[in-house]
Amino acid sequence: MATLLPFRASPFRSGSSDNTGDARMPSQTTPQSEKFISIEGIARRYPAPGGTSTTVFENLWLPMRRGEFVCMIGHSGCGKTTVLNILAGLEAPSEGVVIADGQAIEGTSLDRAVIFQGHALLPWRTVLGNVAYAVSSRWRKAGRAEVEARAHKAIATVGLAGSEHKRPSELSGGMKQRVGIARALAIEPKILLMDEPFSALDALTRGTLQDEVRRICVETGQTVFMITHDVDESIYLADRIVLMTNGPQAKVAEIVENPLPKVRDRTQLHHAPGYYALRNHLMDFLVTRSKTLRDAMPPGYDQRHPPVIRPSLSDADTAALLGAEAPALRA
Ligand SMILES: Nc1ncnc2c1ncn2[C@@H]1O[C@H](COP(=O)(O)OP(=O)(O)OP(=O)(O)O)[C@@H](O)[C@H]1O
Ligand SMILES: [Mg+2]
Repeated sequence: MATLLPFRASPFRSGSSDNTGDARMPSQTTPQSEKFISIEGIARRYPAPGGTSTTVFENLWLPMRRGEFVCMIGHSGCGKTTVLNILAGLEAPSEGVVIADGQAIEGTSLDRAVIFQGHALLPWRTVLGNVAYAVSSRWRKAGRAEVEARAHKAIATVGLAGSEHKRPSELSGGMKQRVGIARALAIEPKILLMDEPFSALDALTRGTLQDEVRRICVETGQTVFMITHDVDESIYLADRIVLMTNGPQAKVAEIVENPLPKVRDRTQLHHAPGYYALRNHLMDFLVTRSKTLRDAMPPGYDQRHPPVIRPSLSDADTAALLGAEAPALRA
């Protein structure tokens, strides 16, 4: 079900997202061409005491388009990392299947790079060694010079030039996180899976890396699935924001289409009136609706086709967000 909300005239309301009034669009399913990644009815259950089981989520459906940047938001424990691990092929779903680029995911692949919530670096290898190891796994026939050149480039991208020969134990948490980002970027995956990749970084480094990662993903056409707890980060980075209700038995409450243009001007973001309506909607979800919706989904809710919220920006908002440097993109 798709919902079109003109941003200024119809700010988001709390409660069900199915509140379209006159602006309602017809129900629709996602065309096959838009399903570069397709999460199809997956469940994850863990054994619980007494021979029972706990259901983290079940019957979860989510399509992702080729080249889109998807952020998932939801409270701790709702199953975000579990979804990411299943996308990575590190965990198998208890039920259901995930299709990526036409094939069911049955294990890990170098087409899918993961930036973990923990850093998951090899402690005995240096920064260069960690990144080069990934590069040489990706390009097995590459010579040492090429491998190191690719690794150096990725290390420089995350601002760690000069630290190539340090080992993880000599790095701060934020530096380790940046090595993880460099390692993922270096292998130029088709799909980038990121679990709170910027959470340990100071504000300045976070902003710089968000810009870099978004630039690289837009330029290379990578498809990105990223988990974040940071609402502003999701608005800045995502094309679509997936909102998960609280667990257990978490659900995709809705999918919010980000109306911001593909090329974004960070300095103008907060000046657009539409920005705050979107931000308030996401905050309201985290503060209230993530719990109320877990307890009672609105009538007509269909897990297979979660409501899609499509806010629209006014021309003035769009122009402000594009900035004066990118007039061609307004057409
Ligand atoms: N190996 C396991 N055995 C039992 N339960 C598990 C296991 N791994 C995860 N869980 C449970 O699954 C649920 C979802 O965990 P997950 O790590 O996916 O949450 P999350 O949304 O990523 O949370 P956070 O925001 O804190 O990272 C949690 O309740 C967790 O306790
Ligand atoms: Mg997690």
